[in-house]
Amino acid sequence: MAQAIRPLAIVTGASTGIGLELAKEAANHGYDLLIAADEPAIETAATELRALGVNVDAVQADLSTTEGVDKLLAATRGREVEALLANAGRGLGKGFLDEDFNEARKVVDTNITGTIYLIHKVGQSMRARRAGKILITGSIAGFMPGSFQAIYNGTKSFLNSFSFAIRDELKDTGVTVTCLMPGPTETEFFERADLMDTSVGQGKKDDAGMVARVGFEAMMKGEGDVVSGWKNKIQSAVANVLPAGVTAALHRGMAEPGSGKQ
Ligand SMILES: NC(=O)c1ccc[n+]([C@@H]2O[C@H](COP(=O)([O-])OP(=O)(O)OC[C@H]3O[C@@H](n4cnc5c(N)ncnc54)[C@H](OP(=O)(O)O)[C@@H]3O)[C@@H](O)[C@H]2O)c1
Repeated sequence: MAQAIRPLAIVTGASTGIGLELAKEAANHGYDLLIAADEPAIETAATELRALGVNVDAVQADLSTTEGVDKLLAATRGREVEALLANAGRGLGKGFLDEDFNEARKVVDTNITGTIYLIHKVGQSMRARRAGKILITGSIAGFMPGSFQAIYNGTKSFLNSFSFAIRDELKDTGVTVTCLMPGPTETEFFERADLMDTSVGQGKKDDAGMVARVGFEAMMKGEGDVVSGWKNKIQSAVANVLPAGVTAALHRGMAEPGSGKQ
């Protein structure tokens, strides 16, 4: 990486989708980037992002493991991280008992374990410096029990809650924590999660660039959370007042295999 003249942002899951758009936002706001994902496509994303005129380092690492997170942290080479955009995540469709347990566990390890380990490490140095911004990509899925995406919704519920908890712990430290809660967004997420035969997989979705802009702006303002898109704001408000049994049944309608058009 060239000489450190700009603040540094780490963006995880930046090879595609919301993460790539978050990385573009950070670059356009003058951050150098350290980006990470598990597949070689992260190098293609790095090339695209370098065209925005900032320094970009890319790390290929499995962020569901502490070793993968350590590899990402080593790539900072001691440089201070001003913004951490913890976005990497994955979904998994089908009924819980019909899922491969190792795949289900990978969802937990990526969305929760790897994410909180990274935040634990970076957050400590931010707190010591009394400066830093953390953005966590949660989801409106965290507001409802996710029939046929039970593990995924559970992980997002964890992140939504965790985000507000550490935000409160860090008040008055100069470190802000913001939770971006998107609704269904046009990315590779649904294909990767094997949800393309479902109503939510086939339905209309938000633009990933819009979602990233809203999330990045909220992070820069130090807001607690932001739900992207007015339909999602209404849906999450309604989900908060409906009984869990009702929202679980509603989720079945969106995510049950075969719920989409054949
Ligand atoms: N799309 C939606 O409707 C939606 C809605 C709400 C929240 N979200 C959240 O938004 C975030 C981004 O998802 P997306 O929609 O942009 O999907 P996406 O296009 O599939 O992007 C997911 C990113 O996470 C990376 N990733 C996944 N597992 C990883 C691992 N173990 N180690 C390292 N990187 C990993 C992927 O890289 P590799 O391909 O290299 O693994 C990719 O860069 C996720 O946290 C997701 O839960 C999405």
